[in-house]
Amino acid sequence: LEAQIRIMDTCVECSSEASELADIEWDNLGFGLLPTDYMYMMKCSQGGNFSNGELQRFGNIELNPSAGVLNYGQGLFEGLKAYRKEDGNILLFRPEENALRMRQGAERMCMPAPTVDQFVEAVKETVLANKRWVPPPGKGSLYIRPLLMGSGAVLGLAPAPEYTFLIYVSPVGNYFKEGVAPINLIVEHELHRATPGGTGGVKTIGNYAAVLKAQSAAKAKGYSDVLYLDCVHKKYLEEVSSCNIFVVKGNVISTPAIKGTILPGITRKSIIDVARSQGFQVEERFVPVDELLDADEVFCTGTAVVVSPVGSITYKGKRVSYGVDGFGAVAQQLYSVLTRLQMGLIDDKMNWTVEL
Ligand code: COI
Repeated sequence: LEAQIRIMDTCVECSSEASELADIEWDNLGFGLLPTDYMYMMKCSQGGNFSNGELQRFGNIELNPSAGVLNYGQGLFEGLKAYRKEDGNILLFRPEENALRMRQGAERMCMPAPTVDQFVEAVKETVLANKRWVPPPGKGSLYIRPLLMGSGAVLGLAPAPEYTFLIYVSPVGNYFKEGVAPINLIVEHELHRATPGGTGGVKTIGNYAAVLKAQSAAKAKGYSDVLYLDCVHKKYLEEVSSCNIFVVKGNVISTPAIKGTILPGITRKSIIDVARSQGFQVEERFVPVDELLDADEVFCTGTAVVVSPVGSITYKGKRVSYGVDGFGAVAQQLYSVLTRLQMGLIDDKMNWTVEL
């Protein structure tokens, strides 16, 4: 009963707070954390099921120093976005895809995961409780960050005895400091992001810590980010630290195939469908790094980056440039269709959006 009262209190508080826009400067959102009102928490023991999730005030969480996630990296994250429509309603983009991807990752990382319904319901509850933080139309989006972690104490290497599913949110604008201007990438040919049989294809937290060294070095030299090659042949494109990559030549758009070392991006998958619906031929295959030399355009996709044009790529000291002025025509067309769909500005024939 106490828990029920707490949930009801929480909901009363959030509905009054949710009625207006937060009092912040909406014009220059970047991709940094702005603390919001509520986060969602749900727990589960090893071998059990997640239940009794609830909203809590956003804030620090307590973890045993021996928690599986802190000691052995047993953790996954997701990322999705909510947009405010002109009529004030909120749209989510394919949340069940994130739920499914989290479940696949959890299987790889020996963790229990929320069901697709639990995940989607929790996302909806969290977004509605933080509604005043969803940017006005055209000013950005609410980035939703679900986490799944081994929160139970474990000293010897083993799956943790308890798991926490948590969702927090933050209003965001463009991911790269370049905004929507083209980014400059450097191909990394010594350090690798993923190995066959490893965890590159799931959204485990360690994949992201592992790219920081190459990414920091690249940024120190003025590049926006790093493009990784496969670790076996050191020849085929894999992905950028935080997004997937596409190469355009004429009417053909190529992207590295999903084969365990590449993150199966939901924006990647959506762009492939959008491109095909627009008459492009899309090839998912091994893409040799040499193809960058005579590409018409290169662009990246991801939840955080959306569609980001690439202005140049440097490989072994040689720089290849693509329309440095802005979006190439193909990336522009795909970006425009995808974002208008996500923002509710065109008919959602794909049935991808979920209105709250
Ligand atoms: C996303 O695009 O949502 C990601 O998870 C990438 C992250 C590094 C911001």
